[in-house]
Amino acid sequence: MDQIHDAVRQQFSQHAEYYAQSKVHSEGETLGVLVDFAELNGTEKALDIATGTGFTAFALAPKVVNVTATDLTPAMLDQAKTLARERGLRNIDFQVAPAEASPFEAESFDLVTCRIAPHHFRNVPQFLSETYRVLRPGGLFCMVDSVCPESERLIEWQNRVEKLRDRSHVWGYPPSQWREMIEQSGFSVEREAHTHNALQPFSWWADRPGNSPEQVQQIRAAFDELTPEEEPIFAIRREAGELYFAWPMYCVKARKPALS
Ligand SMILES: C[S@@+](CC[C@H](N)C(=O)[O-])C[C@H]1O[C@@H](n2cnc3c(N)ncnc32)[C@H](O)[C@@H]1O
Repeated sequence: MDQIHDAVRQQFSQHAEYYAQSKVHSEGETLGVLVDFAELNGTEKALDIATGTGFTAFALAPKVVNVTATDLTPAMLDQAKTLARERGLRNIDFQVAPAEASPFEAESFDLVTCRIAPHHFRNVPQFLSETYRVLRPGGLFCMVDSVCPESERLIEWQNRVEKLRDRSHVWGYPPSQWREMIEQSGFSVEREAHTHNALQPFSWWADRPGNSPEQVQQIRAAFDELTPEEEPIFAIRREAGELYFAWPMYCVKARKPALS
């Protein structure tokens, strides 16, 4: 029994319909960054890991030969299949698969993408090593994830807050640790971009995983631990009794070395 995978499936099965309608996921700025990083020329076989309700796969599909879109949660893939049909996208294959144990042969893909998901992965080095294995030499890995600031205190704070809110959260790293893990897996990092996700109203965000009012209160109290100097790092704004914030996001383009 894998408790982390079970928690992920439970969490995302409950909210698959929400993700299918989420503008943060369907339109977020990082989708454009990722497609730009991917340098598409129309000949690629792409793999989108943890595709969720499919928005990254949908952005790639019209520009490549084929996308294989995988996820741990069948309910998320069901939503993705419906949306792909509605959009008339026929070159996407959907498959249930964990990021840490890819069912594909070595060197099967020209491009691997993964967006707003690795903070749920129980073993990031294993995910990176599987990604490296399934890419052809010279192939690209383009990833986007929510990240923590480069501060021990804020890494502890942000992960504590995320885990209080959602028990399928595993760990958010700062960009420097992502870069190190990606390079240790054999990739060369070619480009990086640092941005924020869209501003979210705290009460909507904290409520959504089905938390009790006491749990929401506990998460809200944690936001009061931030100093005035730390608040801008999370774009914190207070308006009409609501607190708005945004997590930092990290986008990276990395290449598996070509054969010499
Ligand atoms: C926020 S959604 C992904 C959003 C999507 N990539 C996009 O661009 O719209 C996170 C997804 O990660 C999946 N996931 C979490 N842990 C996973 C794992 N270990 N292997 C595969 N998928 C996983 C969840 O099932 C969920 O569908």
